[in-house]
Amino acid sequence: MYSREVIEEVLSKTDIVDLVSSYVKLKRSGSSYMGLCPFHNEKSPSFSVSGQKQLYHCFGCGKGGNAITFVMEYENYTFLEAVEMLATKAGVALPEQKYSYEDRKDKDIKTKLLEINKIAATYYYHCLKSEQGISGLNYLSGKRGLDDKTITNYGLGFAPISSGGLYKLLKEKGYTDDILKESGLFTYDAKVHEKFWNRVIFPIMDVNNKVIGFGGRVMGDAKPKYLNSPETKLFDKSRNLYGLNVARSSRKGNMIICEGYMDVISLHQAGFTQAVASLGTALTPGHARLLKRYTDTVLITYDSDEAGTKAALRAIPLLAEVGLNTKVINMKPYKDPDEFIKALGADAFQERIDKATNSFMFEVSIVEKRYNRSDPAEETAFEKEVANMFLRFSEKLERDNYIKAVCNSFVIPLEGMQMMVANLGNKMGIVNGAKYNASEPSTSAPKKKIESGVRQAEKLLLTWLINDVSIIDKISNVIKPEDFIDPLLNSVATKLYDQIKMGNPNPALIVGDYTDESDAAIVASLFSSDLDENLSKQERERALNDIVRKVKKNSLDTEFNTVTDAIRMQEIIKEQQKLNEINIRL
Ligand code: GTP
Ligand code: MN
Repeated sequence: MYSREVIEEVLSKTDIVDLVSSYVKLKRSGSSYMGLCPFHNEKSPSFSVSGQKQLYHCFGCGKGGNAITFVMEYENYTFLEAVEMLATKAGVALPEQKYSYEDRKDKDIKTKLLEINKIAATYYYHCLKSEQGISGLNYLSGKRGLDDKTITNYGLGFAPISSGGLYKLLKEKGYTDDILKESGLFTYDAKVHEKFWNRVIFPIMDVNNKVIGFGGRVMGDAKPKYLNSPETKLFDKSRNLYGLNVARSSRKGNMIICEGYMDVISLHQAGFTQAVASLGTALTPGHARLLKRYTDTVLITYDSDEAGTKAALRAIPLLAEVGLNTKVINMKPYKDPDEFIKALGADAFQERIDKATNSFMFEVSIVEKRYNRSDPAEETAFEKEVANMFLRFSEKLERDNYIKAVCNSFVIPLEGMQMMVANLGNKMGIVNGAKYNASEPSTSAPKKKIESGVRQAEKLLLTWLINDVSIIDKISNVIKPEDFIDPLLNSVATKLYDQIKMGNPNPALIVGDYTDESDAAIVASLFSSDLDENLSKQERERALNDIVRKVKKNSLDTEFNTVTDAIRMQEIIKEQQKLNEINIRL
């Protein structure tokens, strides 16, 4: 850990407007700057950066923080890595010894693994371009139709048959077996073997274009067709997606998720640079959250066989869970996007994108396949199963829209279906379609929790304080930091009171104390909100007094519920009675 002073120095020598400008185009707007949010996909700017407060905040996705959290978020760095990067930029010398032994060791291992991967990727690349790689190059450019530019951009390579070259190279460079074991590139039994041989190599990069692992495809039909690096200290399959380093900046308004490395590369080569793939594993909730950072709409193009359909049905609820709008691309009669594009070209694929099926309709079409609809009993069973699926939608309007669309395209009588859904809803104990509690995961976006009025008041009060620190003198005999009941806001208040007492409130520094992403975002948004400047002084006074009373009342009520001391109890009652006498003048 670095000391507070060091972090303070790094922050003070960093200008967040300059920093963000090197990633995002910013335009001045009033006292701050606005731009397109780098953390979610948007067409009109809602990402604001304040030079005064040294904070950023997105009014669209809610992300916010200081220079350190920006780098953490954008570069996918840890806190320490972000501080180091900013320190280097700002020319601040960091004290070496501040790392704990464990931190240092872990960092050393990761740094070494990155070096090893870089050497390996370069080695495989050179092999591909050398004589021993001819079969690999023929395969990639001939059979798979990749052009030179693509092969270079994606760093594709070849692991030759006569193995041993990579191991020798790394040993020569001084890497020990201890660290080579952790790289996942070798298997150790009686002898050391290279994991990849006679395979074309796909280096797997993280969002910062650092090689974190490899995938290798065998030449010809041997098994296994694809071999992937095991998970290592660098390579976490559930948090990375192949192609995301390119797709993250594609700005196509959607992301395409497909199954294989080759699909991603073919799609990118055809101009669909928004394509990504999971790394030889099923899609995880981590992947869904990762995608949500970059888009609101995900198009699934899994293989059009049974396994691909199953994978799509598993992925849909995961994507819905994080609020992604999901569609499914039909690639028939081809197996995967790679084959489709080779056969029909990019324009035809774009047409399939435009015609992608809403994921709910896709699910219904899969259910339909299990029934023989010309048989009345089976038709009824089909309709019942579909009726149950509609109960996932808790909003009546949304549910009705889906009922209409499904009845229309699957030729089901609308009125009958509406009645069946209403009956099922009633049976589940909820009347009038106000709220259905289906046990299945909802396909609609997760509902935002309604914030309690008290929490809102606590937040507002903090916003007041940071906008006008002189208020603290006026309220400090009524409101103390401990009056903030929400744990997060309480800790912010404590820090803010301390800073104001010391004479220089520094919001960016407070935000820096919150390493949890969502906490930091909440704190940054407190400090980034402006008060309504159109209010008259009188109106502002009334608003402030309302907020102060609300916060104080809640604090007293909360204390009263737990207090055991009789004297304190009486004091609380007295204070409760005097709440209305609070009158703060601006
Ligand atoms: P091509 O034949 O090269 O076109 O393969 P594909 O892109 O059509 O791939 P496929 O649908 O067979 O597999 C999709 C993805 O699943 C691959 O990119 C790999 O990540 C993974 N995969 C495929 N086969 C294997 C295997 O045998 N073992 C492992 N671990 N992963 C595999
Ligand atoms: Mn394929």
